[in-house]
Amino acid sequence: MDKQEIKKLVKKAVLSAQKEGKLPYFDMPEIIIEFPDQEEHGDYSTNIAFPVGKLVAKPSQFVATVIKEELQDKLGDSVTVLPPGFINFKVSKDELIDSLKEILKKKSKYGGQKQRKTVVIDYSAPNIAKSFGVGHLRSTIIGQALYNIYKFLGWKCIGDNHLGDWGTQFGKLIVAIKKWGDQKDLDIIELEELYVRFHTEAETDKKLLEEARVWFKKLEQGDQEAKKIWQLCIDISKQEFSSIYNLLGVKIDRAYGESFYEDKMGVVIEQAKKLGIAKKSQGALIIEVAGFNAPLMLLKSDGATTYETRELATTKFRMEKLKPDLVIYEVGADQKEHLAKSFKVAEMLGYGTEKQYIHIAHGLIRWKDRKFSTRRGETAKLKDVLNEAINRAEEITKDKDIAKKVGIGAVKYNDLSRHYSRDIIFDLDQMISLQGNSGPYIQYTAVRCKSVIKKAKAEKKIKRFRIDSLNKEEETILKALRKFPEIIQQSADSFSPNLICNFVFDLAQKYNLFYEKSPILNNESQDFRIALTKGVLQILENSLNLLGIEIPDKM
Ligand code: ARG
Repeated sequence: MDKQEIKKLVKKAVLSAQKEGKLPYFDMPEIIIEFPDQEEHGDYSTNIAFPVGKLVAKPSQFVATVIKEELQDKLGDSVTVLPPGFINFKVSKDELIDSLKEILKKKSKYGGQKQRKTVVIDYSAPNIAKSFGVGHLRSTIIGQALYNIYKFLGWKCIGDNHLGDWGTQFGKLIVAIKKWGDQKDLDIIELEELYVRFHTEAETDKKLLEEARVWFKKLEQGDQEAKKIWQLCIDISKQEFSSIYNLLGVKIDRAYGESFYEDKMGVVIEQAKKLGIAKKSQGALIIEVAGFNAPLMLLKSDGATTYETRELATTKFRMEKLKPDLVIYEVGADQKEHLAKSFKVAEMLGYGTEKQYIHIAHGLIRWKDRKFSTRRGETAKLKDVLNEAINRAEEITKDKDIAKKVGIGAVKYNDLSRHYSRDIIFDLDQMISLQGNSGPYIQYTAVRCKSVIKKAKAEKKIKRFRIDSLNKEEETILKALRKFPEIIQQSADSFSPNLICNFVFDLAQKYNLFYEKSPILNNESQDFRIALTKGVLQILENSLNLLGIEIPDKM
């Protein structure tokens, strides 16, 4: 029994009630099947009788009873009606046991699917010579989780790191490096400082801006010196980004970057002109978009292309070459307007439809205590923060390897456990804590399962199980476990990895309660309880895998 199946049965029940004249004909409202919060609502529940009641002008209790009677042939006593008209479903004990067996059989594949669909996920996307900020950290963590989830559901996933490696800022950087830098001895911190210095000095020295424009023009025209300095910036930044990805254990399929579209913007501009949607305005070339105050800027008055022009060229390339059904942009909420506008224009230009683009607009990270205010580049600082998380974990685990898994797991879980649109607080004490809804708490629970299984193995106690009656804790665990496939589907549909975190936290709590109350080994239910522990571990592993969080062998 699952949501899809219940939905079908309810629909059939309504149709046959209509055939038998127990209900009049009407347009079927959407049938929503939920996991109820309260126990008296069973394991699944629908409130379909309320909208139907309105449509046919009958009390919802009456409608619910009619539907229930139609369902009884198939579902027997597992379907009940609760006033004033909820229809509730209860999963049988046999079904619960069967789900556990299925989990133990399918293992890491339990809950997975095969879909013939493609998704491009645009995530991380830091900017060359600027900081890999906490925003990019969020994008990396959430984007990677979405990638893993879609992949698990059988989608073909293409991860694209849309690096900010092109644009007028490179004119500024080149000027700054030539004036104040030493090309033979540059690192990420100096690079970021030079960029900041350019802006400070340009406030009083307006000539600098003009010089920067000239140098960007040169870069666009392929000038050797400009290209060399640009490449240097790329190499230095990429090396730094790699070390962050290594710490996070993240690998992104491709990084075309904005520069890849340098020679692909001309066509976009021509198409916009041909379609008559581009127009000249004060020397610039713009597209006005209904519903937005500022137009989309294709060319600035000095002829330079923009982030927006590259955005359109990127969309064109992806839609034509990668042919995705969906493109997910994991980008901060501050780019809402930019993306919404570019989605509209992309559709006007015929690059797919607006519905195919989804902006997952993440909120900010706020710091509990901003301890990291050394005068270092922001990127280096972020690395310090990640290392600090690992060091804190090491104080608890006393082992470097384990500490890395726990520290990084804590950072990721902290980010993923709240809805992406919310701001998150970066509070290392709370993140690393073994109490409460934290990464380490979930890891600790998985490690606990591992050690139970290890002990059982050592004592040669792994056997097939038979079970006649379940206690309360066992039953709730089984019920939680079999929700996994539906939770994953739901989290993909709503782009919300936090649903998986809620789920594992709930499961971990249930298992720990069981662990405290029920002896596992040397007990008459031993075989079943070991199997149950294996099932819990499997589902925790499957879930944490999707979140990109590793489980240590011990803690
Ligand atoms: N590099 C950009 C930034 O840091 C983010 C790019 C996001 N992706 C995109 N297709 N615009 O602001």
